[in-house]
Amino acid sequence: MIPENHMVVIFGSTGDLTKRKIIPAIYQLIRKEQFSEKCPIVCLGRREYTTEEFVSHLELSQFIKNSEPKILQQLSRQIVYIKQDLEEEAADSLRRRFDDITEKFGCGPNKLFYLALPASVFSQAAGIIQLFVDDPGWQRVVFEKPFGDDLSSAEELNNTITSVLREEQIYRVDHYLGKELVQNIFTLRFHNEIFRWAWHSDAIDHVQITASEVLGVEERAGYYDKSGAVRDMVQNHLLQLLSLVAMEPPLANNAEEIRNRTGKVIESLIPVKPDDVVLGQYEGYTQEHGVDGASQTETFAAFKVYVDMPRWKGVPFYLKTGKKLDERYADIKVVFKHNYELCKTGDCDQPNIIVIRIQPDDGIAIAFNVKRPGRSMITEPVLMDFCHHCYFGPNTPEAYESILLNVIQGEPTAFARWDWIRNSWRFVDHLRATAQAPLQYPQNSTGPAESDGLLKRSGRRWIHGEISPRRSQQQTQILPVML
Ligand SMILES: NC(=O)c1ccc[n+]([C@@H]2O[C@H](COP(=O)([O-])OP(=O)(O)OC[C@H]3O[C@@H](n4cnc5c(N)ncnc54)[C@H](OP(=O)(O)O)[C@@H]3O)[C@@H](O)[C@H]2O)c1
Repeated sequence: MIPENHMVVIFGSTGDLTKRKIIPAIYQLIRKEQFSEKCPIVCLGRREYTTEEFVSHLELSQFIKNSEPKILQQLSRQIVYIKQDLEEEAADSLRRRFDDITEKFGCGPNKLFYLALPASVFSQAAGIIQLFVDDPGWQRVVFEKPFGDDLSSAEELNNTITSVLREEQIYRVDHYLGKELVQNIFTLRFHNEIFRWAWHSDAIDHVQITASEVLGVEERAGYYDKSGAVRDMVQNHLLQLLSLVAMEPPLANNAEEIRNRTGKVIESLIPVKPDDVVLGQYEGYTQEHGVDGASQTETFAAFKVYVDMPRWKGVPFYLKTGKKLDERYADIKVVFKHNYELCKTGDCDQPNIIVIRIQPDDGIAIAFNVKRPGRSMITEPVLMDFCHHCYFGPNTPEAYESILLNVIQGEPTAFARWDWIRNSWRFVDHLRATAQAPLQYPQNSTGPAESDGLLKRSGRRWIHGEISPRRSQQQTQILPVML
């Protein structure tokens, strides 16, 4: 279905995000006939470019793999570059340009403003957007993460933008929420009765949420050294995953109710104790180009947290993220309890585990026990493994396609509401203040050895990527569990 026409206005269009994510996502929407040729893509930047020069700066054929020339031409025709410094007086000239473009494309008054800018200049951009917020049609504004650096800066930013925009015009992006497998957590839990009833402290022993990266800071040192793993990954992505895993079933299938439920989880997080958090820094980090030689910024964080809700009484959630680790993956592992009666007799089976694999090779796997052939009752764990792209094909939407489409359709479920952001910063500010200085860890490892202690103390261990190696192109398969 082609949605109604609208103008897309990108602030910070000369940056990396526009080139690598936003423009390729619009290409895919055009290809799938979800973005009309009547929708101009107005790219604002402070550099001196003609539209032709800007289009060549985008390096479309490098960033859009296997592109179709016809669609590329269509995309290029829809791009208009306008030099606009955020500090310059914009009112009359920008409105005139927008009016001309609206008339040329025949697109109507709806506008999607995308702020692909550093958060430090969000409020300046909001000052320009203010000129258009009361125009007819819809006017929606997308803010990229990070939304603030801590609770007080997030509050300040929120006060600034809500003095200009209404909450329903604000879309705070966490691109993890645009990922298919993240959206599938909701489906897995609430559209499958077998999981719905097992999703409880009676059955679940603990939950592990991991985002493990093999890359270091690369070209992002300037940003990352001021941010660190907790603010870059935990405050947004990992806590979003936690809130989807732990939320109560929504009473209605609408955005506000779902956001009430995820918000309640973040509000219910019990502040982390000092012994339950380990920060790390990979060896050689301070020698990286752009990093302060005495930096104490963490590139690794692991912690244990409880959710103060009856469903999760006594169930620890272990969260972990880091750079320069030995494997690249992001997943959630829901680890079920042992059958204690069998364990008492010395016949302890492996626990059932549900693995929600977010990347790479997104899918869902379930480890369960089967009897080995023969007369004995010896059991063996196997893995039933659903591969998302093998089944649905490689063309499922990328996160940024979903983000754009959701904003165009006015669907806010996959965007963070202010109360969620406020409570996540409150939790994270406390965690950062509680944690000891980062411990060094070797590159290509699983992080500081002390992070193993978080689980070992209660007889558990991290289950790394090994449980669910997905190398086959089959749609579903049964594999041995490698624990
Ligand atoms: N890149 C990603 O994959 C990614 C992922 C998640 C979130 N984000 C977020 O998305 C936003 C943009 O990221 P990015 O990677 O595209 O950053 P970037 O490559 O550094 O580009 C930033 C853009 O903002 C412009 N800009 C910077 N300071 C400005 C100022 N004072 N006044 C006016 N314009 C200014 C830059 O203009 P010039 O070109 O003229 O410098 C450029 O167009 C950031 O908030 C980032 O945290 C990025």
